[in-house]
Amino acid sequence: MTYSWRALCLFHILSVSAICTGARSWQEKDIIATNVQVRSASSVFAFTSSKGKHSKKPHHKRDDEPVDPAPGPSSIWEPCTTKGCIFNVLTFNAVGDGITDDTKAFQATWRAACRSESSLILAPAYYIFVVGQITFKGPCKSNLTFQVDGTIIPPTELSTWAKLKNKVQWIGFYKQADMTLRGSGVVNGLGEVWWSQPCKEKTHGRQRCPSPTALKFYGCINVVVRDITIQDSPQMHLKFDNCQQVQVLNISILSPAWSPNTDGIHLQNTGYALLENLVIAAGDDCISLQTGTTDVLIRNVVCGPGHGISIGGLGQGNSQACVSNITVQDVFIQGTQNGVRIKTWQGGSGIVQHVKFDTITVINVQNPIVINQFYCDDKNCQNDTAAVLISDISFRNIQGTYDQLHSHAPIYFACSDTVPCRDIKVDNVELLPSEPTTFPSPSYCLNSYGASDPFCFPAVCLIDDPVIEDSEEYYC
Ligand SMILES: *[C@@H]1O[C@H](CO)[C@@H](O)[C@H](O)[C@H]1NC(C)=O
Ligand SMILES: *[C@@H]1O[C@H](CO)[C@@H](O)[C@H](O)[C@H]1NC(C)=O
Ligand SMILES: *[C@@H]1O[C@H](CO)[C@@H](O)[C@H](O)[C@H]1NC(C)=O
Ligand SMILES: *[C@@H]1O[C@H](CO)[C@@H](O)[C@H](O)[C@H]1NC(C)=O
Repeated sequence: MTYSWRALCLFHILSVSAICTGARSWQEKDIIATNVQVRSASSVFAFTSSKGKHSKKPHHKRDDEPVDPAPGPSSIWEPCTTKGCIFNVLTFNAVGDGITDDTKAFQATWRAACRSESSLILAPAYYIFVVGQITFKGPCKSNLTFQVDGTIIPPTELSTWAKLKNKVQWIGFYKQADMTLRGSGVVNGLGEVWWSQPCKEKTHGRQRCPSPTALKFYGCINVVVRDITIQDSPQMHLKFDNCQQVQVLNISILSPAWSPNTDGIHLQNTGYALLENLVIAAGDDCISLQTGTTDVLIRNVVCGPGHGISIGGLGQGNSQACVSNITVQDVFIQGTQNGVRIKTWQGGSGIVQHVKFDTITVINVQNPIVINQFYCDDKNCQNDTAAVLISDISFRNIQGTYDQLHSHAPIYFACSDTVPCRDIKVDNVELLPSEPTTFPSPSYCLNSYGASDPFCFPAVCLIDDPVIEDSEEYYC
């Protein structure tokens, strides 16, 4: 361990709010305080904004601190340099008054914590931290925990964002391995100022104003996000891109139905993910799985309002899409546009395969079961013969009601002439109109092959699988 690391941990001992592992006596603290020049403090405090002086912390920047002191003795702070230090953002001059910009304090806390093993970053309860666009860069030493017990909000002025070149992310974690983000706190994107912008109106399916995703992990391995609440994101709430071994456990995502494009959880190029015990209310898909997602288990989810749990849209702009080994089970979906859905654009290639939707309850959902190979949220979609192949998809134990007035069909399979959907299985499905006086709607099938249990209601219009030669063009 280098001297600066000992100094950082020492720095924590000096504060009331941060402690390091290992029991310490007052005497030890006194020795540390009197004998050692805190080298890291100067770099940490260099980030302090002038507003930081309202901080209630017990120590202050000292202008007379040497920039580069001689290395201190090594033995007595050794416990801190090993593992388990707590890095409280308040120690790094975060104010948490809901007004002062704490971005630099968070960045400084991260830099410090990142360099030692099993660090715990703490954003304590009852404080409201204003944090602007920030990327926490890794890789850090392993087993970092970021504990948010307070509330984190972005700057409310849109002008703060206007200066930024890239507006598509608020809080990012880049190339992080073995990390946990947890806590009883809230990440609140204060998205309302974004949602109501005139440029949020779609023009040919495109938004003219990109808006930030609240929390984004890029290039991560073995990351856990648990217990926190993510609320009112300007756009998506929680996104994983290029990640492996992701767990999202026991979190709540809360945004109103009318908030545009506020997907709950979005996975892309991500494998081996477990999404479990989630409550998601959003203005777009509760969970959205994009290309490159494989081996994902989603279970115990309450979804609504929102657009349901979706695979896709895949294959946009003639792209290749690959999604496989997805299980969605024990899900309760209420008042959403869709229940469980696979959607692909015309003109794409690749395959969606080995997908199981099992034990889903739907209440007043417009379209409970959907496969749509003609997905288009753009008025200019061209007809095309190419398509993403959809194969080996099962729907089992799906019960509930649908909003008939706004429904295409309770079971809707629209597949292409040239690349029909195959090996679709439907078992033990019972869907009734939520308004009991109305006449139930039939299922809808176009170019859809597979088998169903004859007791499903409505009766499923799938036709027996033809013998199809496997074609390599659909493999990923
Ligand atoms: C990881 O870090 C947490 C918090 O600092 C600690 O409680 C836990 O024991 C650490 N786990 C390992 C395997 O080091
Ligand atoms: C789930 O998260 C809430 C809120 O943070 C917490 O109080 C609760 O203990 C968590 N439950 C589990 C099983 O971890
Ligand atoms: C999907 O799961 C099967 C076993 O169930 C496994 O053989 C296959 O490798 C998995 N595919 C991917 C892409 O992970
Ligand atoms: C695409 O095909 C559909 C059905 O075959 C047809 O109604 C529609 O006009 C076509 N659209 C274009 C842009 O060619």
